[in-house]
Amino acid sequence: MRQTKIDEFLQLENHNKELEKRVKEEVAKNREKDKLLFQQNKMAALGEMLSNISHQWRQPLMEISSIFLPIEAKINMDIPLDNQELLNSIQKLNDITKYMSNTIDDFKNFFLKEKEKINFEILEQINSTVNIISSSLKQHDIKLDIIIQKNTHMLGYKNEYSQVLINILNNARDVLIQRKIQNPKIKITISENKNDIITKIEDNAGGIKITPIEKVFDPFFTYEKINGSGIGLFMSRLIIENNMNGKLEVKNNKDGAIFTVIIPKS
Ligand SMILES: Nc1ncnc2c1ncn2[C@@H]1O[C@H](COP(=O)(O)OP(=O)(O)OP(=O)(O)O)[C@@H](O)[C@H]1O
Ligand SMILES: [Mg+2]
Repeated sequence: MRQTKIDEFLQLENHNKELEKRVKEEVAKNREKDKLLFQQNKMAALGEMLSNISHQWRQPLMEISSIFLPIEAKINMDIPLDNQELLNSIQKLNDITKYMSNTIDDFKNFFLKEKEKINFEILEQINSTVNIISSSLKQHDIKLDIIIQKNTHMLGYKNEYSQVLINILNNARDVLIQRKIQNPKIKITISENKNDIITKIEDNAGGIKITPIEKVFDPFFTYEKINGSGIGLFMSRLIIENNMNGKLEVKNNKDGAIFTVIIPKS
């Protein structure tokens, strides 16, 4: 009788060890998978950005040639050029190239690898993020409001914060377009309380039609979309919760979806 108890105990112990080992293996595998998805999500954002940059550059490129053309024509027709006119043209060209170089900087910063959390200004980061997708919002007449209740700083990985914003903004844009919403709008509000910095992103696309709503954060969960891979929000939550000790929440209001990013101040 006693022996069987000991045997049972040993068996159980073995079983536990085996289980522990398997849990460890699975956790390691999942980490690898998450890393891969992170990369995949970044690549998708990269593709998105490339198409936005080319879109954003088309207009200034046309403006540049429209500045050159009259000068070239005058020279060809031997019409004298006055200095002021030339200076004005040069000034315009300077402005345009500065704008184009900013677009590239936004792009480059986004892909730098971040090692340390830094203290960054939220409005600045939001502006450069919005710059990345503004042309596609404009193209679809989507109005974007940014409301800063206090111009705060945040401690964290600023590119990853941008990546999360892009995921959420892209989703809102996609749904607004897909559902052909009249007067499409996205509103970003930044506020803070004693402990946290809160970024709220609202749209008027009619809301998330999935129950339970938390399902949107599941990996590979995609709904109503033609080219969705279902990793955007999964990745966003991972970044906010694992890398910044924050929270990413979602709910619907009467107009549409509200995503809330809560990041602790310290
Ligand atoms: N603002 C929103 N309004 C309504 N539904 C939304 C909104 N944001 C997300 N969703 C729903 O949540 C789903 C999951 O979003 P998620 O970003 O994780 O994946 P995806 O957009 O389908 O694909 P991916 O982002 O990987 O390209 C979407 O397919 C969509 O159905
Ligand atoms: Mg998405």
